[in-house]
Amino acid sequence: MSDIILGIESSCDDTSAAVIKDGFLLSNVIASQQVHKDFGGVVPELASRAHEVNIVPVVSQALEKAGVKPEELSAIAFTRGPGLLGSLLVGTSFAKAFGLSLGKPIVMVNHLQGHILANFVKQYDKENRQPSFPYLCLLVSGGNSQIVKVSSPLEFEILGQTIDDAVGEAFDKCSKMMGLGYPGGPIIDRLAKQGNPDRFKFAKPHIQGLDYSFSGVKTSLLYFVRDEMEKDPQFMENNKEDICASFQKTLIDILLDKLVKAAKQTGIKEITIGGGVSANSGLRERIEMEGKKRGWNTYLPEFKFTTDNAAMIAIAGYFHYLAGEKTSLDVAPVSRIADF
Ligand code: KG4
Repeated sequence: MSDIILGIESSCDDTSAAVIKDGFLLSNVIASQQVHKDFGGVVPELASRAHEVNIVPVVSQALEKAGVKPEELSAIAFTRGPGLLGSLLVGTSFAKAFGLSLGKPIVMVNHLQGHILANFVKQYDKENRQPSFPYLCLLVSGGNSQIVKVSSPLEFEILGQTIDDAVGEAFDKCSKMMGLGYPGGPIIDRLAKQGNPDRFKFAKPHIQGLDYSFSGVKTSLLYFVRDEMEKDPQFMENNKEDICASFQKTLIDILLDKLVKAAKQTGIKEITIGGGVSANSGLRERIEMEGKKRGWNTYLPEFKFTTDNAAMIAIAGYFHYLAGEKTSLDVAPVSRIADF
């Protein structure tokens, strides 16, 4: 008999539901929230209200697109955390109520584990290359910058992580301060393609081990732009492509430096990336380039699986389900990974 899993993701500002059957994707519906655009960042209270509006239509659409009736589901996987508590409450409560009404088990998923396992979502019309264990995942998003060693679908260890800002935050905050817009990652990525990455230099951190830091490079960029604007008010407008290209290159250098170190230390040559920043075209190119140079097998997720999506939650839930795990109905969401 087939295992059919409904995945539900509501940890930040995207409401998403997906259905997978024996690991193959049948549907993946994402409702992105537009209410935050005017604020230059996600407003938690508005996010949870929008999830409340979106959750029923998004799940209905995912089931309909998949051609699956609710009673055919084997289990309902949902993001328990980390993320915004009010947002997580909507997905968690929905999963509980739906599971209870259908008499189906629910399975909680760590959001980060979803990103780490995104490469295992199989698609009927695709090649479906998957890393073999153990592999390293560079997990880079608006809330995380980590190097994770993944030993099996359910076993992972964080080898290094940011001690301050996440790399996505560096993209977002700098873009906002430079007046370029929100979210900053895709905007800087687009402008960087037209600029000279070697024109400007920004300070790089000197952090021991495999940990990251992005607050220094962020400050370095902001002081540089402020000083130049005092001399020439048109500086930003006339040089934004070069500034973005140079800044993006600095962030990528920092990310790659520790990833190369981690690969050397562990002897692991299977390399994946995940999280919203893994959509960055410069980062993807560099990973491929380093991979060729160093004999790595690299696995880059499709764009639709880089940012928050329920397909990755469904696949992680599937692995938990196969391991016989079921979550009790008195589960509560958690905002921090440490509380998981
Ligand atoms: O994983 P994700 O969707 O969720 C959060 O962690 O919130 O990641 C969102 C982050 C944002 O910081 C956004 O600017 C960044 O991913 N991002 C990118 C790109 N697309 C999204 N950063 C760099 N280049 C991109 N193309």
